[in-house]
Amino acid sequence: MLNQVLQRKEHLLVDQGRPFIMLAGEVHNSSSSSAEYMEPIWEKAVRLGMNSLLLPVTWEMVEPEEGVFDFRIVDELIAQARRHEMKLGFLWFGAWKNAQCYYAPSWVKTDLERFKRAEVEKGNNRTDLKDFHGMSYTTLSYLCEATCAADAKAFRELMLHIKKADEKEQTVILIQVENEPGLQGAAREHSDTADALFEANVPQPFVDYMITHTGTMAADVRQAVENGAKSGNWQAVFGDAAEEIFSAYHVASYIDKVAAAGKEIYPLPMMSNCWLDKGQKAGKYPSGGPVSRMMEVWKCCAPNVDVIAPDIYVQNFCDVCDEYVKMDNPLFIPETATHSYAGPRLVYVVGHYHALGFAPFGFEDMGEPFTAIDSYLFGVDTSDPMLRTPQNVEEYAWYNKTINSMMPLLTEKYGTSDLQAAIVERPDQDTMMFGEYGFKVMMNMPLLTRKDGVCLVLKKTADEFYIIASGCAVFPFSANPTKPNVDILSLEEGRFEQGNWKMTRRLNGDEVAIMRYEKPTLLKIKLFGYQ
Ligand code: DGJ
Repeated sequence: MLNQVLQRKEHLLVDQGRPFIMLAGEVHNSSSSSAEYMEPIWEKAVRLGMNSLLLPVTWEMVEPEEGVFDFRIVDELIAQARRHEMKLGFLWFGAWKNAQCYYAPSWVKTDLERFKRAEVEKGNNRTDLKDFHGMSYTTLSYLCEATCAADAKAFRELMLHIKKADEKEQTVILIQVENEPGLQGAAREHSDTADALFEANVPQPFVDYMITHTGTMAADVRQAVENGAKSGNWQAVFGDAAEEIFSAYHVASYIDKVAAAGKEIYPLPMMSNCWLDKGQKAGKYPSGGPVSRMMEVWKCCAPNVDVIAPDIYVQNFCDVCDEYVKMDNPLFIPETATHSYAGPRLVYVVGHYHALGFAPFGFEDMGEPFTAIDSYLFGVDTSDPMLRTPQNVEEYAWYNKTINSMMPLLTEKYGTSDLQAAIVERPDQDTMMFGEYGFKVMMNMPLLTRKDGVCLVLKKTADEFYIIASGCAVFPFSANPTKPNVDILSLEEGRFEQGNWKMTRRLNGDEVAIMRYEKPTLLKIKLFGYQ
């Protein structure tokens, strides 16, 4: 068995079993089509302290003619990653890329008979999305077996190649199967085939699964399932949620076939990313995609997909994360904005959600002024200055390097309450409890100039803690009523070198009276509780 498969909740493993958090960046869509173009991007990743990258590998490039495979770019990217001592997650841009078929090879795109397009209305396969890049387009049908078979075959060849090229060294540690799949423009397809399937009975094992998994469901989905018939056609069983569930069933089943074809060859952990639903109707966001409200469907129909991963550009980042940890789904953020919440959010997802990975999208531009499209995507048009300011690259590098240097300590605490975090976006969750002691974290207070507070606390022993703090003041207190007083026996600023703590400054006096941090700082603190 490979050493990278997810052996227990919330761990990726590398190098013969070392737990690993992907401190990654995802490149812009076209960057990894050229190793030459990638050179300076690798340098930037090194400067940013990243330990891995997420890179698209596209169907059109690896199978330009049917049955003729060309994996040169895959080999070049693996070689570059190794030269820069980084791991890789490859993103398979197959039939789906943002609910479209941009990356299907031309032999697929041009054979309209064999590779059917999705009908968003009866007889119409054209989707007009005036508010999304102003484009109209058609896309491949999730019901077309020929497309799924061709996609799965290409993916299988890719995994076979990666296995041959990389099984020994294991540079590639994660695969994303497709990109933001689903159907735009309608909640379900409307071809005659789709209509017939929609009118037919829902497979009973699927109905039974849904009926027994209502506990985690979104309120309206649960209501639809609970009020629906216990057998029958899609409308009868799933009521108002029928069309989206129908799409999710078919998209997830399609992607599971692709993932299975690859896993059978080389069982790397596999994930599926989603374009979030923002309370709109399905079809406004890609219907059938792996959004949290369809997670029960995906967990049932796509068992070969290990992780459902949200692409988060919206402002209520933490609320979205909360939705994606249900059903024991480990948190992985493959795409997020590069505004100045990026650094604090990285620390928070590690400390609070024990995330597998975090990757700002288009990280190669991090720190540069936003383009108009960045501004649109990141929602910078608000009064919040953090959203309008690009992430400071030195600080982001500090966060990555610090987390990387603490990797064994952090991953050992994954899945336990010895690792916690607080962030400025969650002012009501400002207290962390660790047995005998607790820490209250104050942010956004008059004594602090910066507004991007974050604090991660790791309990090393009963009275010793490591703390990553920025933009906050930290107040330790006793949680033991028989020993209500607390002394700080020692407070050190420092860093880890080859796994060993190296103190850079002993803090006391004013620096202990108020533990206030204006810039990212790593601390080691020892407490003493007494009566
Ligand atoms: C989400 C997609 O998954 C990415 O590939 C990219 O298109 C961004 N949106 C927007 O640039």
